[in-house]
Amino acid sequence: MIPRHDPQLKSFASDNYAGVHPEILRAIADANGGHQIAYGDDVYTEALLSVFQRHFGERAQVWPVFNGTAANVVSLRAMTAQWEAVICAETAHIHTDEGGAPEVVGGIKLLTVPTPDGKLTPELIDRQAWGFGDVHRAQPRVVSISNTTELGTLYTPEEIAAVCAHAHERGLLVHLDGSRLTNAAAALDVPLRALTTDAGVDVLSFGGTKIGLLYGEAVVVLNPEAAGGIDYIRKTFMQLSSKMRFVSAQFEALLSGDLWLRNARQANAMGQRLAAAVRDIPGVEVPRPVEANAVFAVLPREVTERLQKRFRFYTWNEATGEVRWMCAFDTTEADVDAFAAAIREEMG
Ligand SMILES: Cc1ncc(COP(=O)(O)O)c(C=O)c1O
Repeated sequence: MIPRHDPQLKSFASDNYAGVHPEILRAIADANGGHQIAYGDDVYTEALLSVFQRHFGERAQVWPVFNGTAANVVSLRAMTAQWEAVICAETAHIHTDEGGAPEVVGGIKLLTVPTPDGKLTPELIDRQAWGFGDVHRAQPRVVSISNTTELGTLYTPEEIAAVCAHAHERGLLVHLDGSRLTNAAAALDVPLRALTTDAGVDVLSFGGTKIGLLYGEAVVVLNPEAAGGIDYIRKTFMQLSSKMRFVSAQFEALLSGDLWLRNARQANAMGQRLAAAVRDIPGVEVPRPVEANAVFAVLPREVTERLQKRFRFYTWNEATGEVRWMCAFDTTEADVDAFAAAIREEMG
């Protein structure tokens, strides 16, 4: 088939704009042919457990799902009773970008906290960790953090350990939205478990799509006492894939070697390259630390409008004119240089 789009054209809108990594496509093709038991009783899904346990420790259990919103909602539902609530940053994806799915589908109350950088700290958690035993208040039960955050920032292993220790002390569980966990681990040069299992995280939403999968995310339970009923919740929430072998084969290809790391390092390096290329352009401000693959910038609105005719990217904050530029595993140096040159040109 002749592609309907220009396969060379890249954007800086989202790592979800990228296609599928060729090694993942090959894994899907290799898993094809013949019949396999449906709904997760296939040999690829069976093999997945040891792949995840190698990264997250031998207590880890894994449930593949279709997308990141589902990984979050299934995780949080499995961690809470009906009267319990989830503390998260005001900027958390579960609060800002999931169309209310935690509330509508999961029936989950979110207790949000404003943060300067998208990160919760023990002090910020305490803004909502109160009212225990008060029947009039949804009972705080889970702290949900994202790494990397929606503002492109990172939690270090020590920061996550501090959040987990504080949460556990208060009788709260910790969920990590790791839609970009691979980017965080690559940027910090630590194993995936340093930011999760070893830091005390109870349940993880592990991201695959943004780092080269066709589709697929996973609920990973690190503390078996923290969540229950996921087999049933996943089905009820319409996330039980009948042909699960194709999701599992993708995760195996991503995690059994270093594909996750290569892809994350590439995306992060391109974020750094882009930030370095635009920082000295007069009139362009990079107001947040660039710690992984996202670059936030403030530039004149008319420049943004002209640039968006040449490259796709999103305005993050209409009021301030802040935009977000996101690099993906397939962003190249040439892509970044062309985009930076266009920014320089449009800034005059
Ligand atoms: C922090 C974060 N969590 C979760 C997701 C997953 O969302 P989706 O349901 O679009 O796969 C995203 C995607 O943008 C995200 O940025």
